[in-house]
Amino acid sequence: MTKIAVLVGSLRRDSINRKFAAALEKLAAGRMEFVYADLSGLPHYNDELWDSPPEPVTQLKALIESADAVLVLTPEYNRTYPGVLKDAIDWGSRPWGQNSWVGKPLAITGTSPGAIGTAVGQHHLRTAMVAAGTAVMGQPELYYAYKPEHFGDDGSVTDEGTRSFLESWLNSFAGWVAQTGK
Ligand SMILES: Cc1cc2nc3c(=O)[nH]c(=O)nc-3n(C[C@H](O)[C@H](O)[C@H](O)COP(=O)(O)O)c2cc1C
Repeated sequence: MTKIAVLVGSLRRDSINRKFAAALEKLAAGRMEFVYADLSGLPHYNDELWDSPPEPVTQLKALIESADAVLVLTPEYNRTYPGVLKDAIDWGSRPWGQNSWVGKPLAITGTSPGAIGTAVGQHHLRTAMVAAGTAVMGQPELYYAYKPEHFGDDGSVTDEGTRSFLESWLNSFAGWVAQTGK
């Protein structure tokens, strides 16, 4: 089973990105194990805190390092990605010489109610993840304009076209992990 560290860039309970992650998890069941990072207690990046690293930071780094690959789901905030993800990227990349991201296969997606479904935010995030040293899947891209009617109460994808598109995207991600992972 491929272990996927999942970072959701929204902290709110009813997050559509969290629901989208759960739908992908259901579709990937049996071949990928999703383990969700808890970003709620992550402090803003501060170099001085390495003297006594906060537990949310050490837990995040351990999760990334133990995973076969990473999946990041980002909302779009003011045409970029949320600050909580920037802090996660920065903490993961330090201390100097102990970058947890290096070489990690990674895919980015995200959803918003808006028509362009996080496209701009995802592109900013892609730039930072490349800079952090991850092996980011370039294609296929997945921008999803969220439609609640496409999902059942149990998180399953009820819309046939959406389901087959998400399945094929997950197949590409699995192929990317096999190709670039250790
Ligand atoms: C501060 C803020 C800025 C936002 N900016 C954008 C934006 O640039 N583009 C967009 O499509 N939606 C934007 N939205 C709406 C979000 O897409 C929407 O709130 C979405 O539900 C957030 O994802 P979540 O449900 O996973 O928290 C913004 C929301 C907030 C709170």
